[in-house]
Amino acid sequence: MKIALLTREPKNYSSTRLREAAEKRGHKIVGLNVMKMGIHLDTDGPSIDYRGKELSSYDAVIPRIGSSVTFYGTAVVRQFEQMGTFTLNGSHAITMSRDKLRSLQVLSRYKLGMPATAFVRDRKSILGAIERVGGAPVVIKLLEGTQGIGVILAETTKVAEAIIETLQSTSQQVIIQKFVAESKGKDLRAFVIGDRVVAAMRRSAVGTEFRSNVHRGGTTEAVTLSPEFEATAVRAAHILGLRVAGVDMLEGTDGPQIMEVNSSPGLEGIEKATGLDIAGDIIKHLEDQVRFEDFDIRHRLTLARGYQVAELPVGPDSEFVGKSVKDTGLRDKDIVILSIQRGGITIPNPRNDRAIMAGDVLVCYGVKSALLNLVPDLNARRRPKKKSVKKKTES
Ligand SMILES: Nc1ncnc2c1ncn2[C@@H]1O[C@H](COP(=O)(O)OP(=O)(O)O)[C@@H](O)[C@H]1O
Ligand SMILES: [Mg+2]
Repeated sequence: MKIALLTREPKNYSSTRLREAAEKRGHKIVGLNVMKMGIHLDTDGPSIDYRGKELSSYDAVIPRIGSSVTFYGTAVVRQFEQMGTFTLNGSHAITMSRDKLRSLQVLSRYKLGMPATAFVRDRKSILGAIERVGGAPVVIKLLEGTQGIGVILAETTKVAEAIIETLQSTSQQVIIQKFVAESKGKDLRAFVIGDRVVAAMRRSAVGTEFRSNVHRGGTTEAVTLSPEFEATAVRAAHILGLRVAGVDMLEGTDGPQIMEVNSSPGLEGIEKATGLDIAGDIIKHLEDQVRFEDFDIRHRLTLARGYQVAELPVGPDSEFVGKSVKDTGLRDKDIVILSIQRGGITIPNPRNDRAIMAGDVLVCYGVKSALLNLVPDLNARRRPKKKSVKKKTES
C-alpha cells in the first residue's frame, strides 16, 4: 500500500512510530504537510497539488490534523475523500469531535454518560446554567481547547460568571460543565481502533492541578477498563464516526463520564504506559478497511427508487412481540431486518428464528410504502414531556 501520513510534525513520536509500523508491514508511507497542499476543483473533478505539483495517488490517508489547522486540514481530508482515497478518520468525524459542544450534543442523544453541560449566550442565562449543572465549583471550557489549555475550574459562582462574561466579550465560545470532583484529578484515556479498545491508561494530575493532561504534567499508568467503560468508549467513537479515537472519560460515581473524543490521539503516552504496539494495530486496521469501499449505507440503499432504511420501534402492543423474525411476515412485504437494537446492544443480521421483544427497534430496509404502514403516525408517536411542570391553576 502507498500511505500518506498527513502531519505537520513528521518527526514527532506518533509520526515516527506510524512510519516504522507501516514500513515493517511492507508499505510505502510518506509524511505530507497539509498546509503545503492545494485543493483544486473543476469539471474534470477534484485534485490536490503538493508544493505546486500534482500529488501522486495514494491508497490510504492517515490524517493527524492538529487543532490549530482544523479548518484547512479537514478540507484537505475531504478532498481526498472526494477523490476516492480511503481516509482512516473521515473529515466529518474529525470536525465533529474537534468541537467539545458539538460532539457532546451528538453523544447526549444516545444517552452516554457525560458531565452535565450547558451552553448559553444571554448574560441573564449564565447563573441558571451554572446552577443547572450542579452549581460552583464548575468547569468552564473553550469549545476547541486542547492539552488542557482553555479548561478552567471556577471555585465560586461569582468567579465563574466573571470568567464566562469575559470570554464571551472577546467572542470566545465556552461550555459550562459540572465539576466531577470524585474523579480527583484523574481521568481515563481509552484508545479505540475499529470496534475495540486496544489500550487504556489512567492519567493523574500533579499537586493541586485538576487537569490530568500529560502536557500539564499528568502521570500515566496502564489500566484494564471495566466492560462498562470499554463499551462507552467504543460507542462514542462509533457514534462520532471515528475508526481511531482517544476517548477521555472521568470516573464518576454513576459510571463513565465522557469529556471528549480525540480524532488524532497521541501514541507516545499510551505506548509508553502500556508497552503495546498501537502503531502496528493502526496499520493492521487500515489494511483491513482499505479493502472495503467507504460509503454511506443510507445513500447507497436509497438509490433504489421507492426503497429506504427505517427504524421500526416495537411497542408493548405491537403485533410483532413474541414472534420470530420469520413469523413477522416482513420478508413477504419486501422488508428485510438488517439488525435489532435491544437496550444498548445490536443484534446484526438476525436469523429467522430470533424472537422479537417489546422495546426492540428493528432497523429495516424495504419498500417505503410498506414501511410507512408500520410506523406510528406523527401524532401517535409524540413523546411525553421529560418533566411535567404543574401549572398553578387560578382559583
Ligand atoms: N467536568 C470535569 N470535571 C473534572 N475534571 C475535568 C472536567 N473536565 C475536564 N477535566 C480535567 O481537565 C482535563 C482537560 O479537559 P478536556 O475536556 O479533556 O480538555 P482538553 O481538550 O484540553 O484535553 C481532563 O483530562 C480532566 O483531567
Ligand atoms: Mg483531553
